[in-house]
Amino acid sequence: MESDPYFQFKAAQREGWALFAPLEALTTPPAGALVSFAGIAADVQILDVACGTGVVAVTAARRGAHVSALDLSPVLLERARHNADLAGVNIAFTEGDVEALPYPSASFDIVMSQFGHMFAPRPAVALAEMLRVLKPGGCLAFSTWPPEMFTGRMFLLINQYLAPPPGVPPSTDWGDVRIVRERLGEAVSELVFERELMTAPTLSPAHYRAAIERTAAPVIKLVESLREDPPTLARFRGELEALIALYLVANVVRQHFLMTRAKKR
Ligand SMILES: C[S@@+](CC[C@H](N)C(=O)[O-])C[C@H]1O[C@@H](n2cnc3c(N)ncnc32)[C@H](O)[C@@H]1O
Repeated sequence: MESDPYFQFKAAQREGWALFAPLEALTTPPAGALVSFAGIAADVQILDVACGTGVVAVTAARRGAHVSALDLSPVLLERARHNADLAGVNIAFTEGDVEALPYPSASFDIVMSQFGHMFAPRPAVALAEMLRVLKPGGCLAFSTWPPEMFTGRMFLLINQYLAPPPGVPPSTDWGDVRIVRERLGEAVSELVFERELMTAPTLSPAHYRAAIERTAAPVIKLVESLREDPPTLARFRGELEALIALYLVANVVRQHFLMTRAKKR
């Protein structure tokens, strides 16, 4: 991995996402939606890429699928193993990088990623790897944040304060149907998009801002970088709370995410 030009970027991701576990409460319902959208049935071989605490992997395994799951973060994998044990399912968890998947080609019937592969710095490399390990005729299914919804807008706001490294496109490109269609191109057929609602209970914009400052890697990183610059930090927090307020209705932050499904040729 040291020869990887994005080694530092990924090391920061591995550290940054370590505090994500409380957000599994929010990503659990979308995991159910993605597993249904992918049409998972018993006995199929599945890979959950960037599995975090394993919400997609456990949901698929409870349907009888044979599940492998991979993530950069050893801390989240420990929590994922706990979740699998508690649910009484067997999942092969591996620490690794979506840009260099440690599986033979054509190993899986379904390759999935929920709000995960979108954080890899090189979309083409991540996608090529996900397609490589998928069997011909297999299903690729992922959920991503559109640039026009709350989380996507928050990531784009963060980029205004802390630009991603040169050459790394916004993660929200994976939530833009035009770009997703272009990226998948001729490698797939039967492309389908769908949108689903995600909700997050909270008392106020400040409560939600404080919660994501404790859990979401890109926000943690930005707040840390502004520690010595209180006026800019205050401006960012104000802009973030104003954005949250646009999506907060009756103590619930409501936003849609994009689900994509396609068949490998
Ligand atoms: C927003 S969390 C989503 C976790 C989980 N899929 C869920 O829906 O709850 C993003 C995850 O992507 C993982 N991740 C980021 N970059 C990665 C990479 N290059 N390879 C593998 N995992 C990565 C992080 O460690 C983190 O667990």
